[in-house]
Amino acid sequence: MLELKHVSFSVEDDQGPREILTDMNLRIDDKKFVVITGPNGGGKSTLAKLIAGIEKPTSGNIFFDGKDITDWSITERARAGISYAFQQPVRFKGITVNDLMRIAAGNEALSTNGVCQYLSEVGLCAADYVQREVDASLSGGELKRIEIATLIARKATKMALFDEPEAGIDLWSFHKLIHVFEKMHKQQRSILIISHQERILNIADEIILIADGRLRQTGTKESILPGLMEVAGKCDLFKEAEK
Ligand SMILES: Nc1ncnc2c1ncn2[C@@H]1O[C@H](COP(=O)(O)OP(=O)(O)O)[C@@H](O)[C@H]1O
Ligand SMILES: [Mg+2]
Repeated sequence: MLELKHVSFSVEDDQGPREILTDMNLRIDDKKFVVITGPNGGGKSTLAKLIAGIEKPTSGNIFFDGKDITDWSITERARAGISYAFQQPVRFKGITVNDLMRIAAGNEALSTNGVCQYLSEVGLCAADYVQREVDASLSGGELKRIEIATLIARKATKMALFDEPEAGIDLWSFHKLIHVFEKMHKQQRSILIISHQERILNIADEIILIADGRLRQTGTKESILPGLMEVAGKCDLFKEAEK
């Protein structure tokens, strides 16, 4: 179980201190499929980075499986089972897709065949990719899918955190990805996805709406989704996804 208690996050910019997230209180139970949504700039990616340990809260605490992980590093959190996929995945010059998948799986001896199986789950024609470098020559959508494949391969994952996995991915591949998330969920993992996609919102157990750095609504899909469309009309919630 993941819990956030009174988590706030501020940055210092030209105009002085600015609060990006304000007093977030949140509980995500084990094995839940939770979707975080809300307008651009609302603080969703910041929240994901706080959970993954890329940023540290200015105040408040984060708990995972009952332990206070607020001061834990990214690596310590990854070891505890929190896996994170960036909105804009990182490129690694000099590292091949094969290398990356083996590191993710924690198995240097993982066969090319094994790597290929993970890649085909995210709709990549694996043989074309295994020897490629994870660098600028890959498209955004390819990179995104490779990153998702690394989360599938990471057996220690208890909670998988995806930041807008739909970004840059064509509709056909996206349909495949929905199955990937459902399968991970069936494997008893908690799934936390930041998304604007109706298809993803539709398979959520719970939906969290974040706007202007605050948690605005949280509850079951059935209780949130009908009203969410109304809110969406007001704050252009789905504009980005339609682009
Ligand atoms: N490190 C930072 N320094 C300054 N501003 C930031 C930083 N991180 C996020 N922000 C700002 O915080 C707001 C929320 O950003 P973000 O979490 O990326 O929103 P979302 O993912 O919901 O679109 C934005 O206005 C963004 O520019
Ligand atoms: Mg974002």
